[in-house]
Amino acid sequence: MTQLCVPIFVESAEQARRDVAIAAEAGADLVELRIDSLTEPINISGFTRAIVTCRPEFEGGHSTLPDAQRIELLRATSRTGAAYVDVELETYRRNKSITEHFSIPLIISAHDFKGRPEKLHNLVMELNSIEGSIDKIVWMARSIRDNLEAFELLQATKPTIALCMGEAGLISRVLAKKFGAFLTFASLRDESATAPGQVTIADMKRLYRWDALNTNTKVYGVVGSPVVHSMSPAIHNASFERVGHDGVYLPLLVNPGYESFKAFMETFLAFKPLDLAGLSVTIPHKENALRYLKEKGAKIEELGERIGTINTIVIDRSSGDLNLSGFNTDYAAILDTITSALKISREQLCELRVAVIGAGGTGRTAVAALAEYGATVVVYNRTFERAEELAREFNGRSGRVVAARMEKLCDSCCHVFVNTTSVGMHPNVDASPLGDHLPGFTAETLVFDTIYNPMETKLLKQAKSAGAKTVGGVEMFVRQAVRQFEAWTNKPAPLDLMRQVVEARLKA
Ligand SMILES: NC(=O)c1ccc[n+]([C@@H]2O[C@H](COP(=O)([O-])OP(=O)(O)OC[C@H]3O[C@@H](n4cnc5c(N)ncnc54)[C@H](OP(=O)(O)O)[C@@H]3O)[C@@H](O)[C@H]2O)c1
Repeated sequence: MTQLCVPIFVESAEQARRDVAIAAEAGADLVELRIDSLTEPINISGFTRAIVTCRPEFEGGHSTLPDAQRIELLRATSRTGAAYVDVELETYRRNKSITEHFSIPLIISAHDFKGRPEKLHNLVMELNSIEGSIDKIVWMARSIRDNLEAFELLQATKPTIALCMGEAGLISRVLAKKFGAFLTFASLRDESATAPGQVTIADMKRLYRWDALNTNTKVYGVVGSPVVHSMSPAIHNASFERVGHDGVYLPLLVNPGYESFKAFMETFLAFKPLDLAGLSVTIPHKENALRYLKEKGAKIEELGERIGTINTIVIDRSSGDLNLSGFNTDYAAILDTITSALKISREQLCELRVAVIGAGGTGRTAVAALAEYGATVVVYNRTFERAEELAREFNGRSGRVVAARMEKLCDSCCHVFVNTTSVGMHPNVDASPLGDHLPGFTAETLVFDTIYNPMETKLLKQAKSAGAKTVGGVEMFVRQAVRQFEAWTNKPAPLDLMRQVVEARLKA
């Protein structure tokens, strides 16, 4: 069973004892005591099972002691109660008799902070040839694809630790358990991480479902750049937990550009032991996802194709073959948010006049979706030409779409107003796309702001005080996640839980 190890920089025995107790309380199976800054041994008897490491400067640590003193420091400290000692491959090469100094297993480690070691396979072979030790190899991920090589290394029979550093390497840390690593590291606190990309033990346990992870766990994730602040892992993992779905959802950092997206898809789909089962796709890859699925002859939802973006991919191997399908849950989320707020069906949208403010990606999705269901849509946009373009493209599909100048917004007599601009979004919370001139809102008007941070924008406050109905972007965000979740799991999504998770995150 893969152990969860918390690294602790040791400044004094007392501080280490305190941190070790906190790590054990948080669920660590093991701690790594980094004694780089010590010159004298400490007594670690009574500590949770510990690895003792004194990392030299040449391997990214702080110790300036010469080999002999460092090895003696490790020996004296580990004799007071360590379970393992970590020494660098470089140190081992210079001191081959080092194994005789220790009666506990050695972890022999190699780190590359710049990228994948040039001669990775030679390095692995050298580590493998050292009897009785645990192999540890860690490098800075050049791209998310490096993780797959780390997973391959974990398939060795010798106990192995193979991790990628950096944001793109996060998945190697979490999925170490799926691939049977000897251990993975998680930091006690954000600021105590000993390597770039290390997640906290609290996130590992709660956000990434550490206790539930196993060999068969299906993998999902959000593909984008950046993805580190995405709320999708929190929503989907909490929902998998709630419905008992054996899955884990991860942030998947894929560099911008079609070639990066394609290379990611090709390599990740080809690596079957990963059990990749579903993807959310966010900026800047929504168009790339559509292009890739088209190239692959995948099943693509018609409206998604017309909108020009895909935000959900289902990967199905149940028939034995690889079947990909793609759709856009943003447009359905926009429709669902409006129809549920007005308590009407989609078919009744044709009775409404809707003002869509903004003609960017979200504006386009809203216009396409509303026009598809026959609503009369007026597109208002700062750059009028973009509004005109959108109107030309979607007018007459089913509903009527016209463009209008932003200055005319206050004269609008639409039933529904949808803000798809970023005006009012954090940190510019005092801005509103309406400025100070409100259209004639009534108690029957619905104002829907797609912005979710803040949850209540200035626009929504204006609309509320004018007596209109309001709905915020959290609702849209949650509803697009609901459709993804249901497509992947074939189970009803826990909508209320999803909403709670998003609101809690935004409040925090
Ligand atoms: N709730 C959800 O699930 C969800 C999902 C996706 C997006 N969103 C929201 O949608 C918003 C837009 O995202 P997007 O991807 O569609 O962005 P986008 O493609 O960059 O479009 C931005 C739109 O905002 C307009 N705009 C930007 N700054 C403006 C300003 N100062 N004054 C007037 N108009 C301005 C742009 O007008 P020009 O054409 O004149 O540049 C454009 O129409 C985001 O802020 C986000 O909060 C919500």
